[in-house]
Amino acid sequence: MSWQDLIRDVQDYPQPGVLFKDITPVLADPGAFAEVVEELGALFDEADKVVGIEARGFILAAPVAYNIGAGFVPVRKKGKLPAETLEESYDLEYGSATIEVHSDAFRPGDRVVIVDDVLATGGTAAAAVELVKRAGAEVTGVAVLMELSFLKGRERLPGVDLRSLVTV
Ligand code: PRP
Repeated sequence: MSWQDLIRDVQDYPQPGVLFKDITPVLADPGAFAEVVEELGALFDEADKVVGIEARGFILAAPVAYNIGAGFVPVRKKGKLPAETLEESYDLEYGSATIEVHSDAFRPGDRVVIVDDVLATGGTAAAAVELVKRAGAEVTGVAVLMELSFLKGRERLPGVDLRSLVTV
């Protein structure tokens, strides 16, 4: 059995009619978790920093950063970072949101890989790309465990090297 088989469908979450792809069984399995972290790190192994997007992105981005010898930078929901920040607002599948990064999180020209669990509408990833660029770094690529291709998130990331381990 591969780790892909552990992704679980949850009907009617977070609202009626939506089939939610739950990756928590993948994370809970020691072998599957290790494989996913390994495979995500192998998508882009040349990076100075790995950005993780709150909250589920943190779970994957931090071990990926550790594995490839990069630093970890959190992109957080508004109001959670203590020092000076840059912010971006965007629409997401079920509402809207604002995310932030510390203004001084990167050195000029840092090569940055953004890691998240899921690419849905692409709003979150597009906002994260903008934040990294505005903070003076270079986006090497975006790596996600799962791409929900029917939501066409990829179209919101023109010119971005987006790679996913699984496409549904
Ligand atoms: C989820 C997921 C991605 C984002 C993808 O996060 O972890 O970050 O949505 O959606 P998009 O491509 O339509 O922008 P969510 O905002 O649910 O937050 P969480 O990780 O804290 O649960």
